[in-house]
Amino acid sequence: MSDRRILVTSALPYANGPIHLGHLVEYIQTDIWVRFQKQRGNTCYFVCADDTHGTPIMLKADREGITPEQLINQIGKEHLADFTEFGVDFDNYHSTHSEENKFFSSLIYTRLRDAGHICSRTITQAFDPVKNMFLPDRFIKGDCPKCGATDQYGDGCEVCGSTYSPTELKNAVSAISGEKPIEKDSVHYFFNLADFTRMLTEWTSAGHLQVEVRNKLAEWLDSGLQQWDISRDAPYFGFEIPDAPGKYFYVWLDAPIGYMASFKNLCDKQGLDFDEFWAKDSSTELYHFIGKDIIYFHALFWPAMLSGARFRTPSAIFAHGFLTVNGEKMSKSRGTFITARTYLEQLNPEYLRYYFAAKLNAGVDDIDLNFDDFSQRVNSDLVGKVVNIASRCSGFISKRFASTLSAACSEPALFQEFTGTNGQIAEFYETREFGKAMREIMALADKANQYIDEKKPWLIAKQEGKDTELHDVCSMGINLFRLLAAFLRPVIPALAKEAESFLNIGPQNWPTADTQPLLSQAINAFKPLMTRVEADKIAAIVEASKENLEKLTTQIKRDAKYCVSTKFEPIADIIEFDDFAKLDLRIAKIIKAEHVEGSDKLLQLTVDIGDETRNILAGIKSAYAPEDLEGRLTLVIANLAPRKMRFGTSEGMVLAAGPGGKDIWILSPDKGAIAGMRVK
Ligand code: 2FM
Ligand code: ZN
Repeated sequence: MSDRRILVTSALPYANGPIHLGHLVEYIQTDIWVRFQKQRGNTCYFVCADDTHGTPIMLKADREGITPEQLINQIGKEHLADFTEFGVDFDNYHSTHSEENKFFSSLIYTRLRDAGHICSRTITQAFDPVKNMFLPDRFIKGDCPKCGATDQYGDGCEVCGSTYSPTELKNAVSAISGEKPIEKDSVHYFFNLADFTRMLTEWTSAGHLQVEVRNKLAEWLDSGLQQWDISRDAPYFGFEIPDAPGKYFYVWLDAPIGYMASFKNLCDKQGLDFDEFWAKDSSTELYHFIGKDIIYFHALFWPAMLSGARFRTPSAIFAHGFLTVNGEKMSKSRGTFITARTYLEQLNPEYLRYYFAAKLNAGVDDIDLNFDDFSQRVNSDLVGKVVNIASRCSGFISKRFASTLSAACSEPALFQEFTGTNGQIAEFYETREFGKAMREIMALADKANQYIDEKKPWLIAKQEGKDTELHDVCSMGINLFRLLAAFLRPVIPALAKEAESFLNIGPQNWPTADTQPLLSQAINAFKPLMTRVEADKIAAIVEASKENLEKLTTQIKRDAKYCVSTKFEPIADIIEFDDFAKLDLRIAKIIKAEHVEGSDKLLQLTVDIGDETRNILAGIKSAYAPEDLEGRLTLVIANLAPRKMRFGTSEGMVLAAGPGGKDIWILSPDKGAIAGMRVK
């Protein structure tokens, strides 16, 4: 068999959230393809990494009161644990926040710069004056300029689907601080993608892409390539640009370079030759499996960057569609936004691997996970057809023939029919037509079951003098099962491995026309290799995903709206009721609010607490303008002893919460409360 030398990647998952079933389509698809290549005897490396840079990760770490490094370490471990349990067997799993990635990002950038493909100019962008940072479009919220829907992101409306620039958004606020963004200038660095128009025109039509992807790219190329903004201003979690202090590589610049970095890390661990796979004249194969949403980055920016920096370009980009669940977009409210972990807590990961394989093809159409279909296919194909063959035959072999297969093959033609399909099944795997491969394999499983149905070993077993026939039939059944396990090995590796232990054989290579049946082979006791999908487990997944939703919603609310630190103060010492009863808490109406001359923290509030008015100095200036407060109801402690302060005496205290700065909220009673009412 030929020894092709292949490097394969899946897209790098972003390190700000858990792996979900939508992600798994790709990792399972890639893993099946890689396992197939290895089983065929090819040299194939599968590398991946966490994609760790950018504003969302920086802000999430900030909110959680940890460093971005701590956050990405934690999430990286969770991602890898999920992948491992789903049988996704990377040769290396790395991080874009690595020395190797820093090295290659700088190298590629400097090569592009020195070849004249980088330019800089000043651009104007939305800036959060409280957080002192430029705002990515996703961090600006406001009303859609087209349909007026409120609470929409700066780059597009989720209600009417229109796209626009954040400056068009009405009543725009920063999703981080809630403050109105200002416009601010800054120098940005750009990659001149248009320098590569000719190269990309050729490359995109030279067989490296699926037809539908190539057509899409032809449209983009026809409409002209724009400069790509590859820099972001501090504060930013990423790599500083070598010759530009305070400027960082945009996360999408160093993300694909993470493929190289992860492979370099593997080379250093295993003594492999990096250049063999990445040098301009490399004769090895390089494939990137990606989702159709990131084609632009992989089929335009990435080949251009590689070519401009004198590296090889990919042999092919394999894009897949999105996952829908029960025919619809994954939905948190319906419990179909399912994380890898939630699934793993209930069901065998190989069910999903098989189901995805049965649905996948080489195109970019979305695939649907329908729970009824899922149970039905797994139960009928894997449990009812494949595993059933072994369970129907193994009992006789162990009880009547000392767990040893017969010495001769009774049906060589049938065995050869099975081995003879190896080329067709291999072709389907190779071309990512996994659904067709599964259908072909299940047609063989049907034949094996038909054979057993016709021979009826359970009847032969009852007849005198038919031991040899019984032995041959059951041995034949087991040998056919063995071939099915070999053909299914890329898809359900754990089951295939258990089948190998049952058959007492080593890891199975890809069957060929020369593969011979196991004769006089001592086998092990049969244990059920797979049980049926239980409906209540699916219900439990849906239920648990609704719970996830609650957590997620709370998190998103915090993310988008307040973005305050989630490090809460510890609960204070316990007090008795009598102590509490001493507090006279009143509803108060703020009649007047004014700045306090000379103080940058205090506002002077005149509040009506029923029978009297009070002057209260409140340290809330960083969060409120006086005009925002006048007329509002709030809560005050009315019986606090007056306190002499530098700017006057405060006759009470307004109740407020929050860590400080912009993040302070005074408490307000519900509608209907009246100034002077006592809180009890
Ligand atoms: O779309 C995403 O989730 C990105 N993190 C994928 C990056 S793929 C590669 F370019 F690194
Ligand atoms: Zn709209």
